[in-house]
Amino acid sequence: MTKTLIVGCDHGGLALKNALKPFLEEQGLTVSDLGTHSTESCDYPNIAKAVCRAVLEEGEALGLLICGTGLGMSMTANRFEGIRAAVCTNEYMARMARAHNNANVLCLGERTTGPGLAQSVVQAFLQAEFEGGRHLRRINLMDQ
Ligand code: RB5
Repeated sequence: MTKTLIVGCDHGGLALKNALKPFLEEQGLTVSDLGTHSTESCDYPNIAKAVCRAVLEEGEALGLLICGTGLGMSMTANRFEGIRAAVCTNEYMARMARAHNNANVLCLGERTTGPGLAQSVVQAFLQAEFEGGRHLRRINLMDQ
């Protein structure tokens, strides 16, 4: 399981991020929170870019991006080569995002996923491992 989780949210994801942080730390993760830290309206692409740059720099880290739906965060994140961001609304999607797609950024929506389910989704994402093999061939094809 990864040790460092780089997290970010906009105003639409702040409450869920704050609800998840103690749970993430209880899992033994080092949580690096790149904001936002207030309810003031802000622009999700700026946060997504900061988190993706940090994930790519750190190498082994995973990212967690939260906005109202997870969609804007994922669209921004997937513009970065080397980032595979997945919006997941259930545990199965989260497990498959890691096992088959080697996703390195999980995107959640505060307005679509309650805090209890979000905990289970994050846990499934963190515990799953990339299976490699044919799945590695397929993710390599994404950039060709
Ligand atoms: C903000 O209102 C909302 O648009 C944002 O959080 C996100 O859902 C965008 O995809």
